[in-house]
Amino acid sequence: MIPVILYASETGNAADTAHRIARAFRSHHRKISCQPMNLFPLSSLPHTNLLILVTSTHGRGDPPPTMLPLWNALLRSSLPEDILEDVHYAIFGLGDSSYERFCWAGKMLARRMEGLGANKMGEPGWGDERSPNGIEDAFLPWLQQTLDLFLPYLPSTSSSPPLPLTGLPPPIYSLRPVSVLDDVPVNLDRLSISPLPTNGHSTAAPSRVEDSVQGHGSSSSKPDDWVWATLGKNTRVTKEGWWQDVRGIEIEFEDPETMPYLPGSICSLQPQSSTEDVDAFLEMSGLEDQADIPMTIEAILEEQPLAPHLPPSSAQTTLRLLLTNHLDIRASPRKSFFEWLRRLSPDERERERLDEFIADPDEIHTYATRPSRTITETLADFRQTRIPLTHILEILPPLRRRQFSIASSWEAHPGKVQLLVALVEYKTNLKIPRKGLCSSWLNALTVGTRIPIHIAPPTLFLPPSPETPVILVGPGTGVAPMRAFTEVRARHGAAIDTAVYFGCRSMTTDCFYASEWEQYKKQGVKVEIAASRDQAEKLYVQHLIKRDKQRIREWIVDRGGSVYITGSSNAMPREVREAIAWCISAEGAGDMSEEESKVYVERMFEEKRGGEESW
Ligand SMILES: Cc1cc2nc3c(=O)[nH]c(=O)nc-3n(C[C@H](O)[C@H](O)[C@H](O)COP(=O)(O)OP(=O)(O)OC[C@H]3O[C@@H](n4cnc5c(N)ncnc54)[C@H](O)[C@@H]3O)c2cc1C
Ligand SMILES: Cc1cc2nc3c(=O)[nH]c(=O)nc-3n(C[C@H](O)[C@H](O)[C@H](O)COP(=O)(O)O)c2cc1C
Repeated sequence: MIPVILYASETGNAADTAHRIARAFRSHHRKISCQPMNLFPLSSLPHTNLLILVTSTHGRGDPPPTMLPLWNALLRSSLPEDILEDVHYAIFGLGDSSYERFCWAGKMLARRMEGLGANKMGEPGWGDERSPNGIEDAFLPWLQQTLDLFLPYLPSTSSSPPLPLTGLPPPIYSLRPVSVLDDVPVNLDRLSISPLPTNGHSTAAPSRVEDSVQGHGSSSSKPDDWVWATLGKNTRVTKEGWWQDVRGIEIEFEDPETMPYLPGSICSLQPQSSTEDVDAFLEMSGLEDQADIPMTIEAILEEQPLAPHLPPSSAQTTLRLLLTNHLDIRASPRKSFFEWLRRLSPDERERERLDEFIADPDEIHTYATRPSRTITETLADFRQTRIPLTHILEILPPLRRRQFSIASSWEAHPGKVQLLVALVEYKTNLKIPRKGLCSSWLNALTVGTRIPIHIAPPTLFLPPSPETPVILVGPGTGVAPMRAFTEVRARHGAAIDTAVYFGCRSMTTDCFYASEWEQYKKQGVKVEIAASRDQAEKLYVQHLIKRDKQRIREWIVDRGGSVYITGSSNAMPREVREAIAWCISAEGAGDMSEEESKVYVERMFEEKRGGEESW
C-alpha cells in the first residue's frame, strides 16, 4: 500500500508543503507518491486507501484551479454516499485568517470527503499565514500526527533508523547526460563533455529560448494544453514619465482554428529567467561547465512521477534550459530551501545560521521574505554550500506561470488576446531595486516573438439575458475583464443596462481605454471614472457607487442585476461590497437594515449574480 499526496496550489506554497510531507515519509523509509490534484486519475480515488490532501485557498474562499477537476467530480449528485468508504485520508489546508473564508477550500473538501464515506485519519490541519510562526504552528504538529497514524500501516524499505532532517535523502529524479554523437547515455560521474552550443541560448531575450538541444530536433517546451501565439503589440499605456509602466499587450493565436474564448477568461504566460540571472546562478553554484550538456530527466522511484513543471523524460534538455524555462532562481526561498542548504552545507558557521532559520520562521521572514531576497542572492550569502546536480530538480521551485485577466472579447478581437499588464518594479526594504520576474520578461519581449499561452475559462460570467443590468467595478488593471464584458454587452444591445466604475490616479496619466469609454458613453453605457488624485479629496470607485445609490438599488434589488468586482486584493473588494450594501440599505436608497443589506450582497455573490476576482 503506497499513500498518495494530492496537492492543489496556486503560488507554490501548498506544493512545497506537500513535498515536505513526502520527504518526511521517505526519511522514515516509506514509499509515497506526491502529485498535483489535477493530474490524478479520478477513477483511482475510491481505491486509494491512504490519501493526504493539501490545498490552499484563493479568491474569496475558492479552491485553486488545480483542485477543480477533483472538486467538481466529488460534487456530482449521482455519486453513491459510500463511494469513498475505502479511503482513509488526512488533510492540511493553507490559508490566511485575514480572509473571511479561512482555509475554505480545504474545509469544503474535508466535508465532502466525509459526506462520501471517506475515513478521517486525525484532525485536519489549517495552516495560517497570520499565525506568529506562519503555517508552521499548525503544520509541524499535524505532520507528526499524520506520521504517527500512517506509518504503522506502511512497510519500511530499510532497517536503518529514520534519516534526520539534516541528512541528505537519495534523489528522486536523475539528470542523465546523453552522448551527443550516438545518443548513448554516459556516466554522470565521468562528466567532462565540453559545452554544446544550445538552441537560442545566445539570444535568450528578447526571443524565447526553447527546450531543444541543437542537433536533436525540436522538442518544444509547450505543455499539451497550451497553444502557440505571437506577440503583436507591447506598448506602454501609462503616460511617459509616470511612475508605473502598464503595458497594453496583444497576442495573436497561431492556429486559425483556435476555439473562441469567453469574456472574462484568463490567459497564462510562462515567463523565462533572464540570461544574466541564469549565468549568475550557474557561477554561484559552480555549475558553469555542466550548463550546456544535453541531458534527459528520469524519475528514479517507481511510485513518484516526474513533477509536471519538468520536461518529459523523452525530451532532451540542458541545465541552462532548465534554469531558463522550468526552475525559479529568482523566487524568495522558503523554509524547505533552507532545510536543503542545511543538508548540503559543509561549513559549521553556515550550518549554525541555517539552523536558526529552520528553527524560527521569523528569521526567514526578515532575511528572505521581507526584502524579497532571491535564491541566487541567498546562495551568495552561503558561499560554501553548493546545490549538486543530483538534487537540483527537487531543491529549486518551479518557474510559475503568471495569470492575466483577458481585456478583450473574441467578438471584438477575433483570433487575438489583449492584456493590461502592470510591470512590477519597486524598492525592497533594503532599498534594492526589484523587478517582477514576468514583468522583466515581458518588458524585454519584442513584437513578433512566438510564445506559448494558456487560456482558462472564466470564473465570472455575464448574465444570459442582455436585459439584466450589470455593474462592473474594476479599478487599475482590474478594468481588464470589465473592458471585455463592456465590449460584449455593447455588441448585444445591452449598453444602457451596463455601468462601469473604473478607478485611476489621474485622467492624464493612467486612464486606460479613455477614448473607448467616450464611445461607450455615447452608446448609453454609464461610465464612471474615479481619478483619485485629480481633486483635493481622494476619490475612489466606492465613493462613486455611493453617489449613484438610486441606480445601484434599482438595478440590483428591483431588476435583479449582477455586480462584478475585479482588481487588487487589498481592501478594495471589501469596501466596494460594503458600498453596495450601503446603497441598498435604508441609510442609502433602499429599505433594508444594515445587516439585511450585507446578507443580501453576500447571497448575491453566492448565487453567482456577478462575482469577484482579485489578485
Ligand atoms: C486571476 C488573476 C488575474 C490577474 N490579472 C492581472 C491583470 O489583468 N493585470 C496584471 O497586471 N496582473 C494581473 N494578475 C497578476 C499577475 O499574475 C502577476 O502576479 C503580476 O504580473 C506580477 O508578476 P511578476 O512575475 O512580474 O512579479 P513577481 O516576480 O511574481 O513579483 C511579485 C511579488 O513582488 C512583491 N512586490 C510587488 N510589489 C511590491 C512592493 N511595492 N513592495 C514590496 N514587494 C512587492 C510581492 O511579493 C509580489 O507578490 C492577475 C493574477 C491573477 C491570479
Ligand atoms: C488573491 C488571494 C486570495 C486569497 N484568498 C484566501 C481566502 O479566501 N482564504 C484563505 O484562507 N486564504 C486566502 N489566501 C491565502 C492563500 O491561501 C495563502 O497565501 C496560501 O499560502 C497560498 O498557497 P499556494 O501558494 O499553494 O496557492 C489568498 C491569497 C491570495 C493571494
